[in-house]
Amino acid sequence: MHKVIFDTDPGIDDAMALLFLHRHPQIDLIGITTVFGNAPIDLTTRNALFLAQAWGISAPVAQGAGVTFDPSRPEGHWPTFIHGENGLGDVDIPPVIGRTVDDRPAWQFIIDTVRAQPGEVTLVAVGRMTNLALALKADPDFAALVKEVVVMGGAFDLNGNVSPAAEANIHGDPEAADVVFTAPWRVTVVGLDVTLKTVMTSGFLAEMAAAGGAPVQLLSDISQFYIDFYRHRVGDGMVVHDSCACVYLVAPELFKTRSGPVRVVCGGIADGQTIQKPDGRVFPAGHWDGHPSQLVCIDVEPERVLDIIRAAI
Ligand code: BDR
Ligand code: CA
Repeated sequence: MHKVIFDTDPGIDDAMALLFLHRHPQIDLIGITTVFGNAPIDLTTRNALFLAQAWGISAPVAQGAGVTFDPSRPEGHWPTFIHGENGLGDVDIPPVIGRTVDDRPAWQFIIDTVRAQPGEVTLVAVGRMTNLALALKADPDFAALVKEVVVMGGAFDLNGNVSPAAEANIHGDPEAADVVFTAPWRVTVVGLDVTLKTVMTSGFLAEMAAAGGAPVQLLSDISQFYIDFYRHRVGDGMVVHDSCACVYLVAPELFKTRSGPVRVVCGGIADGQTIQKPDGRVFPAGHWDGHPSQLVCIDVEPERVLDIIRAAI
């Protein structure tokens, strides 16, 4: 059983990933932490509470960062054209009654939860990595107590999605991502190299909704805005970035990985670019020396990933 804290910025594809984690029989969702990204932090937190309530998820929700790890970074823009003004495809969201956030900020919740169950907790981060970086800054030793870290982010052997160099979750807080990748823990990076191959057609989603009743119909309603965004990019369907990262947890054999230290470009025209030095490659000297090797996913079996999502949801 994987005990998971889900660090997320819901976000339409985040919503699907949340339902997947909640329903997968080998996953015990023990916490949800929010971060700014697909919408401002007050909205991503409200969305997490709303989804938790709608889907009967009892895990605590802790609110996280609303600004970048380096607060002097200029503010980015909200991707309303992808996730809608409210972050959930502009479906009506009733006031959330009966669910409130944990007293602690996300970084503190993460540290406390990991320290209470050393070696047992997996962190799955599918937004900016600000909360993880803040936790590492507050308590560097807690890294050794985390079982595993899986992140959705980055683009390694292909272009990014917010610039030719950078993927959104990294571009939104490059300094935080660099802290996370260079910390002494094992990170698996599920980036665009594999998520862009994992396209769920609208027909596939409609079949899931027909079989899954009201909870999956809500997911389908939320997703229509996102499907519209992707129509000119992938045809009739959507890229399920964040669910793809969650599937790695339970089916790592579907992913081909490459090992080596990962660094993030912080500034300039390649701001937010993720660069791995593959193990075994020798360069004269560099920013990768002395940092831990991380696993970067470079290929995937998309049909099998989609089947696992469908089976769980
Ligand atoms: C990532 O950016 C966000 O918009 C999505 O939720 C996903 O986590 C994809 O680049
Ligand atoms: Ca996300």
